[in-house]
Amino acid sequence: CGIVGIVGHSPVAPLIVDALKRLEYRGYDSAGVATLDHGDLARRRAEGKLVNLERRLASEPLGGTIGIGHTRWATHGVPNETNAHPHFAENVAIVHNGIIENFAELRDELSSEGFVFTSQTDTEVVAHLIARELRQGKAPQEAAFNALKRLRGAFALAIMFRGDEDMIIGARNGPPLAVGHGEGEMYLGSDAIALAPFTDSITYLEDGDWVIVRRGGMQIFDMDGQPVERACQKSIGTSFLVDKGNHRHFMEKEIHEQPEVISHTLANYLDFSTSRVGAFETPFDFAKIDRLAISACGTAYLAGLIGKYWFERYARLPVDIDIASEFRYREMPLSKESAALFISQSGETADTLASLRYCRSEGLPISAIVNVRESTIARESDGIFPTLAGPEIGVASTKAFTCQLSVLAALALKAAKARGRITFEEEVDLVRQLSEAPRYASQVLKLSERIESVARELSHVRHVLYLGRDTNYPLAMEGALKLKEISYIHAEGYAAGELKHGPIALIDEQMPVIVIAPHDHIFEKTVSNMQEVAARGGRIILITDEKGARKATIKTLDTIVMPDVPEFLSPIVYALPIQLLAYHTAVFMGTDVDQPRNLAKSVTVE
Ligand code: G6P
Repeated sequence: CGIVGIVGHSPVAPLIVDALKRLEYRGYDSAGVATLDHGDLARRRAEGKLVNLERRLASEPLGGTIGIGHTRWATHGVPNETNAHPHFAENVAIVHNGIIENFAELRDELSSEGFVFTSQTDTEVVAHLIARELRQGKAPQEAAFNALKRLRGAFALAIMFRGDEDMIIGARNGPPLAVGHGEGEMYLGSDAIALAPFTDSITYLEDGDWVIVRRGGMQIFDMDGQPVERACQKSIGTSFLVDKGNHRHFMEKEIHEQPEVISHTLANYLDFSTSRVGAFETPFDFAKIDRLAISACGTAYLAGLIGKYWFERYARLPVDIDIASEFRYREMPLSKESAALFISQSGETADTLASLRYCRSEGLPISAIVNVRESTIARESDGIFPTLAGPEIGVASTKAFTCQLSVLAALALKAAKARGRITFEEEVDLVRQLSEAPRYASQVLKLSERIESVARELSHVRHVLYLGRDTNYPLAMEGALKLKEISYIHAEGYAAGELKHGPIALIDEQMPVIVIAPHDHIFEKTVSNMQEVAARGGRIILITDEKGARKATIKTLDTIVMPDVPEFLSPIVYALPIQLLAYHTAVFMGTDVDQPRNLAKSVTVE
């Protein structure tokens, strides 16, 4: 969910909606704004995308120069108008991101005292808790502080009070919250991007902090109620234009940006002039660790899985890789000679952050591959490896994924070098190969129309299987993830060799099987698996190179012929056809490509 608050001079409702647009990536199933209009609480809420709220405000405008707004990704309670934020209780208005874990207990307590709940959300209990304190004669600040002490779970909150036109209270425990400093105006927001049109002076709250924001300034307190100082920073790189250019969707634009952003990213880690690994810093010495623990979620996790193949193959560095939501509770023994690496586009994913904190408590050096340098994960790491993908708006990750892969490939070479596992000649050769990734990516983009014709077929089916071996196995999973995320077609990614142990039972004439098989060291094995599919009437769509197409003498429904790519970087290049395939299929199906149902780009709850 996304939060915005403004204590300003002009009518704030339109400004809040504009800021919410920049936060819509955090959730878009409902939205709302509340202001103090002539001192009284007023709100407009709407189910669905922000545009519905905008329409509502156009016909029923809201006055007031102080207000809070919210865009929601539902956790407790269906996404309808009643459950949309802001929530009101007596003199209190509140917006919330996160989950109040003890909400049921608090709700029972408040209900037994006669407080009436109008929504199914966990958020409403916070509003009532504060209202109860106010009834007992507490001042708003004290009321909010007392209520905060009762909450368990993760939250970012913005709270406004009837009758006080110069105060918003913010609080953070988990999901990020930032204060923006303006000229006689002050702001609250889930991130600096939301506040970019207003200010680039930002103070991030730390966990357990709460803040009183007024036109003239702000004061932050810690969880004991003691005033604390938090640095004000100049936010960088956030004043981007949210613009699709000539593309129909952000996802299409982002797919097409890949040659450029991969190139920018690689330039940060490789020395193109000497074809050597760059001299960038690492927060630990690759030569001195005996294991690397990687954790991440979603597409970032699949990037990590490909990274594991590279670290183990080229640097002989064993890698443990986990889905962050499992890692954080798995109580995995971590050797003191390990280092931890987290991968996150947003740098805010709750499960990834919790895994980071677990490793921190175990005393491991912490590094992170992030796309947002001011994110919580970036700030809590000992060192970061930025991806230079630029803002990614489409919910389905594309360019962030290939940039994560680019960083992982460069890190694997850095590790290989530090551990004495590659010779000078091998380093030069592999760096040269990797430097060619942007050129290959450009060539693949030219196949877009060809891939569109394959997508037309896919848009008629209900289930799809993706197969691959080696680094193409995680890529098969990524292909399946992309397709299900945006086209809602059921898809599974499997290791080609695992097919015979179960999923082969699914094969019939209805089931397209997409095989990702460049002509690499394991190509023949994958061909055998394709034979098994063909023998059972399965319809194969083969993604391979010219040599592979010549050698795989199997009847396919379709073959997408890729440029000949060195094996090392093939997952970066082969990511593009699977992205394009999912994209075009979704367009044929008429789904909401950039904001598919039920998803959010940045998930700050567990
Ligand atoms: C969400 C997004 C995915 C993304 C995952 C991890 O589920 O929809 O596309 O891969 O979060 O996000 P992160 O920002 O940590 O990379």
